[in-house]
Amino acid sequence: MITRKSPSELEKMRRSGLLVYEILHKLAEMVGEGITTHDLEVTAEKMMKDAGAKPAFKGYYVPAAGSRYPFVLCTSVNHEIIHGLPSNKRVLKKGDLVKIDTGVELNGYFGDSALSVPVGEVSDSLCKLMRVTQESLELAIAQARVGNRLFDISGTVEKHVVSNGFSIVREFVGHGIGTKLHEEPQVPNYVDRQHENPRLKEGMVLAIEPMVNEGKPGSKVLSDRWTAVTTDGKCSAHFEHVVAITANGPWVLTRP
Ligand code: MF3
Ligand code: CO
Repeated sequence: MITRKSPSELEKMRRSGLLVYEILHKLAEMVGEGITTHDLEVTAEKMMKDAGAKPAFKGYYVPAAGSRYPFVLCTSVNHEIIHGLPSNKRVLKKGDLVKIDTGVELNGYFGDSALSVPVGEVSDSLCKLMRVTQESLELAIAQARVGNRLFDISGTVEKHVVSNGFSIVREFVGHGIGTKLHEEPQVPNYVDRQHENPRLKEGMVLAIEPMVNEGKPGSKVLSDRWTAVTTDGKCSAHFEHVVAITANGPWVLTRP
């Protein structure tokens, strides 16, 4: 069942969304040569505490991993796609691409967003990978309208990514969000008949999160049981926003 949120619930989700935005904005400013992904984790955890919010990821049980996620952030560098574990041994260096993904629970409602941040100057191909991934998210957001179907979102991401020579990660998908981090429906970044294709209705809220590989589409999970990496060692990019479907069109809750 896909839940639909009332205007007052959307206002609460807006507050969670803006807190996630503030945290990611601050972390993106911190990113630079010599800082560690643990430094980012510490700052994010403090900001959540100060805001009276709970981390959405820390302690969240993920069946595929068979355990609870141990951090407030996922920090995935270069060929790491998602679920990279913050570490004080992971020192960022010039030319890296770090994906930061985080979520909060505030007053019972969740926010979830991710972005890819270059460390210093990165190669032209990484710039293009970032740009195309972000564009695919923006184009998908524009499809989050009453009367469209879910696959209008999925197909828009897929078409933009593939036509630019990159590939879609298929093993991980976006999701509905609200009083739980992950709600129905799944929001794949590609179209296939394994997934439902519901009509989009007012009050539905979706976390749209394209994960785009520079090379082959495949992924595998490392022996830490969390970090998902590309199989060919090439880079991956990730952007995510929470979008409410309203009578006035898409409302991105995770940015001002
Ligand atoms: N943003 C990701 C998602 O929406 C990460 C959450 S999974 C967790 O699925 F394990 F990190 F909590
Ligand atoms: Co998400």
